[in-house]
Amino acid sequence: MGSASTLAQMLALHGGQPVRPTLLPYGRQSISEADIQAVVEVLRSDWLTTGPKVGEFEEAFAARVQARHAVSFSSGTAALHAAAFAAGLKPGDEAITSPLTFAATANCVLYQGATPVFADVRSDTLNLDTVEVRRRLTSKTRAILPVDFAGHPAELEEIASIAAERGLIVIEDACHALGSELNGHRVGSVADMTVFSFHPVKHITTGEGGMVTTNNGAFAETLRRFRNHGISSDARQRHASGQWHYEMVLLGFNYRLPDIVCALGLEQLKRLDENLRRRREIAARYSAAFSSMPTVLPPAVLEACDPAWHLYPVRLRLEKLTARRAEIFAALRAENIGVNVHYIPVHLHPYYRDRFGYQGGEYPVAEDAYERLISLPMFHSMSDQDVQDVIKAVRKVLSAYHL
Ligand SMILES: Cc1ncc(COP(=O)(O)O)c(C=O)c1O
Repeated sequence: MGSASTLAQMLALHGGQPVRPTLLPYGRQSISEADIQAVVEVLRSDWLTTGPKVGEFEEAFAARVQARHAVSFSSGTAALHAAAFAAGLKPGDEAITSPLTFAATANCVLYQGATPVFADVRSDTLNLDTVEVRRRLTSKTRAILPVDFAGHPAELEEIASIAAERGLIVIEDACHALGSELNGHRVGSVADMTVFSFHPVKHITTGEGGMVTTNNGAFAETLRRFRNHGISSDARQRHASGQWHYEMVLLGFNYRLPDIVCALGLEQLKRLDENLRRRREIAARYSAAFSSMPTVLPPAVLEACDPAWHLYPVRLRLEKLTARRAEIFAALRAENIGVNVHYIPVHLHPYYRDRFGYQGGEYPVAEDAYERLISLPMFHSMSDQDVQDVIKAVRKVLSAYHL
């Protein structure tokens, strides 16, 4: 055997030749010439912040997810905060959510002075387990915050029926799930309020940005006030009506999304279907390649669900491997595959441990998943060669560690 092929077989972590010469990131935005032009046009216009593009973006977004209202925010986190406020969460209340999420999902409950209560996840989709949700209900429960992990919709119908029985509000964290569908319904049209993020690795981006969709007009009005200091009309409305008078009716924030980036969001939204098509194609290729491998578990997709594939998280079958996740992660990185881990369970972060006394072991399914999870690159501008590189690197690394 020649030395070149030996080097190619040897793990890059051990001095071999990496599968690809440059690092493939796990996610990346895609900016077109039309996006740039749209932003430049706003920069030349009269309105940099709350102007016509905000309403246009919100209308287009609401139509896309088939919701009556869409209210934009300066981030997904701000959008979550506003939804927690609109749901009426307050000190003494509890809200049930998933531990396997970005901390912002639970933090929005804390912002309102209420208490996040975690319920363990299902072992297949890693979304909230509705049996666990029922187990965590108390007389203080006021809201449920399901998370559409990696873009796979949570069990919204069952969650909605629990909420209806108990008079709870459902805030869906769909920051991963723009474009996902469940039983023919679009994510964003089902829960009381659904929250999206436009961070650069998401399906569409505004740099930073977020949205809440709802079919409830009263929630929409509260959300609009909350993002604008609690003021009952915005500057543009006052400008149009020639009035100076305004009233602050609740304690809000400045969580507005500027016109500059709403123009970007509008353009990005036009390419959402193309983006989703490509992500679904990549997911199908990955799943076809990994489903026959004994060392890895590809993500599950439940019947009647069409995920938007924000992430493609695989779980390592550690029983069949000679190394832990950390070494396999490092080996994939050395092959120039920009893997990531989603998520450190929220209750295990030092802040949550210190404040609530979590010690680990409380949520065994989420904690076991965390030890095994690795997110592979997933973004719509990945080339077929990029996809092949990922598959090749996963095969190379996992066969090297196969027991
Ligand atoms: C599940 C989830 N919730 C909330 C957020 C917060 O969104 P943002 O980064 O736009 O504030 C994110 C984003 O990273 C997320 O992935």
